[in-house]
Amino acid sequence: MKITVNDNGAIKVEGEFTVLDGAGNELETKDAAWLCRCGGSNNKPFCDGSHKSNGFQSEVRAQA
Ligand code: FES
Repeated sequence: MKITVNDNGAIKVEGEFTVLDGAGNELETKDAAWLCRCGGSNNKPFCDGSHKSNGFQSEVRAQA
């Protein structure tokens, strides 16, 4: 599995993974999923592109 935290946008998950809702039900995904982290998606937990218009900006990452 590979997880990419995109600047000012969604978290991309690819590889072998399963997304479950809070009740433990599996949500349909394909080879990759983009998870919303801005809170503005109308299709949570998935990104619907709303971050592009709602002003979401990711925090500056700390240097390792
Ligand atoms: S990160 Fe894309 S809609 Fe929230």
